[in-house]
Amino acid sequence: MAIRKILKIGDELLYKKSHEVTAFDERLWGLLDDMAETMKDSDGAGLAAVQVGILRRAVVIDAGEGITELLNPKIIASEGTQYGAEGCLSVPGKRGDVMRPMQVTFEAQNRNGEKYTRMVTGLFARAVCHELDHLEGKLYVEIADNLQQY
Ligand code: NI
Repeated sequence: MAIRKILKIGDELLYKKSHEVTAFDERLWGLLDDMAETMKDSDGAGLAAVQVGILRRAVVIDAGEGITELLNPKIIASEGTQYGAEGCLSVPGKRGDVMRPMQVTFEAQNRNGEKYTRMVTGLFARAVCHELDHLEGKLYVEIADNLQQY
């Protein structure tokens, strides 16, 4: 495992759409392990592969209950709203308020390519939305209010 360099706002890769993951092999597992370690090292709640320079639809999230890996994730249902502070490891030192669903149900594949479905709420739901935006080349600062330096 290794800590990878996190791309920062302004890097052109962060504005590109990520491609489907098609190979569930050791190379992917190494990437996922590195992403988890990189996220932990920076105290993040989520990280998308594009943030370490890999344009693939791979995401890791740790919303306080351990690492969840999401490959080719899609939100299939959402409910309610939550409005609150969000940050991003690619936009260091900033926070802003973003409206997100309170609950989302997503479909994804695990590192072996097996499909699973999960319903999550609160911070986990916020992280899923934020990371899926990364896969579309979008940064939260484009939709945030009250952006502040901290
Ligand atoms: Ni982010």
